[in-house]
Amino acid sequence: MMEEKHKSVLLKEAIEYLNIKEDGIYIDATLGFAGHASEILKRIKKGYLLAFDKDIEAINYSRIKLAKIDDNFEIYNTSYKNIKEKLGNKKVDGILFDLGVSSVEIDDEKRGFSYMKNGPLDMRMDKSSKITAKTIINTYTPDELTRIFREYGEEKHALKIALEIEKVRKEKEIETTIELVEIIDRCYPYKEKRNTHPAKKVFQALRIEVNNELEELETALKDSLELLNVGGRVVVITFHSLEDRICKKMFKEKCEIDKVVKGLPNIPKDLLPDFKLVTTKPILPTDEEIKQNKRSKSAKLRVIEKIK
Ligand SMILES: C[S@@+](CC[C@H](N)C(=O)[O-])C[C@H]1O[C@@H](n2cnc3c(N)ncnc32)[C@H](O)[C@@H]1O
Repeated sequence: MMEEKHKSVLLKEAIEYLNIKEDGIYIDATLGFAGHASEILKRIKKGYLLAFDKDIEAINYSRIKLAKIDDNFEIYNTSYKNIKEKLGNKKVDGILFDLGVSSVEIDDEKRGFSYMKNGPLDMRMDKSSKITAKTIINTYTPDELTRIFREYGEEKHALKIALEIEKVRKEKEIETTIELVEIIDRCYPYKEKRNTHPAKKVFQALRIEVNNELEELETALKDSLELLNVGGRVVVITFHSLEDRICKKMFKEKCEIDKVVKGLPNIPKDLLPDFKLVTTKPILPTDEEIKQNKRSKSAKLRVIEKIK
C-alpha cells in the first residue's frame, strides 16, 4: 500500500512546532501522502486545512485518506508557488513545507527519480509539465549541463560528465536512468565511488531543474510569510543544503533588526522585525528515526513566527 511506503519525516516535531489551534487555518504546501496533513486535520475540528501538491497520484490517495478524518479541507493540484494566488486575502495560522519527493515517487521506477532503478528519464512531479530529465539530458548544451550539475548538484566532475553525455547522445538519444548512471559512473574516479553513489548529485541537479524547485521554493516561502496571522508559523523541512540555505537566509533576514536602527538604545516598536526565529538551530531527526527511516537522515526543520 502507498501509505506504508512513505514514512513522514519529523512528524511529531513538525506538528508540535506548528502550535496548532483548534479553530485555525493551516496550509500543508506539500501534501504527499497526507502523513502530516492527517495529524493537522485531526487537531483542527473547528478550523480548516488547505493542501497543495503537484502530483495528482498523491492527491488522489490523500483525498480519500483525509476524508476519513473530516471534511474541513480543500486540496489544490498545483505548485506551492501559487499559494498566494489561491489564498487571495485569507490569512492563515501555520504553513508546513516538507520538501522534495515522497518515497512513493522515488520508489516508482516509472517516474525516473531513482538512480537505483531502471526507468524513463522523467523526474516530473507534475506529469502534465513539458520538460523531463530526458529533454534536459538530450538538448541542453554541455555548458548548460555543467552549470546545473555544479549549481544544483555541487558535482565536482560536472564538466567531464557533461562532455561524456554529449559524446554518447551524438550516437543515440539517452533515454533511461540506468543509461545515464552508466555514463556518470565512467566519469567517476574509483576511490570516490566508495562513499557515495556517483549518480546521486547529478540526479539531484536534474530533479531540481526539471521541477524548478529552488525558484518555486523562494517564491513560496516569501509569499507564505505574508500570509501569516500574528502568532502564525512557517515550518520547513529541507533535505539538502541548497534548500536549507534558501530557508535559513530568508528566515534570518526577516528576523533581523534594520541596520540603520540596530545600535539605538530604544528602537521604536514599528521598526522592530515582524518575525522571530523559533529555532535558532535546525531541529534534526533522532537516531531512532534515522534507524527506522534512512531517508530522514538529511532532514532539517526550521521554524519562524510572525510576532506583530
Ligand atoms: C516529502 S513529500 C511530502 C510528504 C508528506 N508530508 C507526508 O507526510 O505524506 C513532498 C511532496 O511535495 C510535493 N511537491 C514538491 N514540490 C512541490 C511544489 N513546488 N508544489 C507542490 N507540491 C510539491 C511532491 O510531489 C511530494 O508529494
